[in-house]
Amino acid sequence: MRFPAGRVSAALRSKMIEPQDCGDGDEHEATPQTVPTLPSMPRERVPLQKSSVCSRSYFMVVMVFFHVYIINVIALLFYVHYNNTPGDVLASPSREAVSGGSDHHKPHESHQQQSGSESGFQRDIYLPRLEGIRVGHVQKVSLMPGKTHEMRTLSLKPLLFEIPGFLSEEECRVVVQLAQLKGLMESQVMVPEGQEELTEQLNLSSEEIFNLLDLNQDGQLQLQEALYSLQILTHSRVLDGIWLTPENLREIYVGLKADPDGLLSLEEFRLLGSDAFQRFLQQRGVKSSQLVRNSRHTWLYQGQGSHQVLQDLKKRVTRLTRLPSALVDLSEPLQVVRYGQGGHYHAHHDSGPVYPETVCTHTRLAANASTPFETSCRYITVLFYLNSVEEGGETAFPVADNRTYEEVSLIQNNVDLMDTRKNCDKSNLRVKPVKGTAVFWYNYLSDGQGWVGEQDEYSLHGGCVVTRGTKWVANNWINIDPDYQRQARYQQLVSLQEGEGAEDGDEPDEDGPPSQVTDAHQEL
Ligand code: OGA
Ligand code: CA
Ligand code: FE2
Repeated sequence: MRFPAGRVSAALRSKMIEPQDCGDGDEHEATPQTVPTLPSMPRERVPLQKSSVCSRSYFMVVMVFFHVYIINVIALLFYVHYNNTPGDVLASPSREAVSGGSDHHKPHESHQQQSGSESGFQRDIYLPRLEGIRVGHVQKVSLMPGKTHEMRTLSLKPLLFEIPGFLSEEECRVVVQLAQLKGLMESQVMVPEGQEELTEQLNLSSEEIFNLLDLNQDGQLQLQEALYSLQILTHSRVLDGIWLTPENLREIYVGLKADPDGLLSLEEFRLLGSDAFQRFLQQRGVKSSQLVRNSRHTWLYQGQGSHQVLQDLKKRVTRLTRLPSALVDLSEPLQVVRYGQGGHYHAHHDSGPVYPETVCTHTRLAANASTPFETSCRYITVLFYLNSVEEGGETAFPVADNRTYEEVSLIQNNVDLMDTRKNCDKSNLRVKPVKGTAVFWYNYLSDGQGWVGEQDEYSLHGGCVVTRGTKWVANNWINIDPDYQRQARYQQLVSLQEGEGAEDGDEPDEDGPPSQVTDAHQEL
């Protein structure tokens, strides 16, 4: 509404200076006419004539613009009216769906509202985001009745906070015991089974990949180029899981080479891209310390019927993040992780970047799209320390508050900043695990309009190697689709399922976070 009104008023303003221009112009025309007839008093008549002509045209101009302005305003009112009418039907379900108002609408109403939703959900919810102010800033937060906690800003990039005493000793004990009762599984298997061929996963031919990696385009891969490419592959989802040091890579490169010229031909590269690479790793045996992550974990449901401590924890997380409870309720269950002595988790992002093709795991079914760009869309990570680690096990943020973020600078001169077994001491920030403390950060920036925006690359973090004792942590991830429409549609789908009644009670999948559209309503 502001733009057209502003345009009109700007036009009006420009017209308001016109009388002077008009007067100057008329003076030349009027003077020759008046001089012969009334020579004695030319100066009095001329200004009279001039001013009447001038003020009439000025009046006309003002009237024209006044009418244009009125028409503009009416047109805008019509525009707003017609755009809001279908949205009004959606406003209540979408507001409820996304903000999670406690009162659930009746099933038949939902059906009615869904049919109107084809045109899209009106965006009427703005996600609050906490303010960091500056590093070291301490603010009081109210997370439970009758108690306040102190929350300290640890970094601004990513926006990261620490809250000591978030959990009591007793609560830490209960969470660990519940996890033990449920049983923990290896967070990562040695060599992923059933791994499709590298080239199939990338959807590019060996030639195409070779060409991309052949940086100097001489038809051969020099050692430097090959090392770089191997490093990229190990950090990509393609070879997800196997962590190779620069020395390992050199070894593999040398092992794969057929001729002693120090170059890798396309043929040799094909070998590398095929399962020969996998077989090589299997033959050598991959130690657990060589994996991206060496830990065990399990998932604990926090919905209705779960242990009171788990439900309390979820409530506290909702108050801490100030997000609508429906968003927290529909997020992943609590992940409890145990690192034994020697355990680690190399630096990673909890959730991936947002491309136009990106879909979120939790809204996948609502997205009616299939793409290889799937990510967990974990807007926020809340990490709880369930014990104080004897030695090591810090959570490292290698590039927190760095001036710049460049992926290539993470590995320089044989120093890999993402390697939390070796280089935690070079991280910009390390958080010491203290029993009951929670840290939380945003994995995504704001889109500037109250919703989830781009990935915050600075949120890169990992668990340093535990040098003495055991480390217990838990993760609460808040999943939000950066695509507002998809998130709203997903939530509407879940509320429809709830309305239909959740009669089946399948056990959730043991191997990973549950597929949320089907399981989410069961935990609520
Ligand atoms: C994680 C993680 C850090 C830590 O579980 O995703 O980053 O300190 N953990 O254990
Ligand atoms: Ca080359
Ligand atoms: Fe993580």
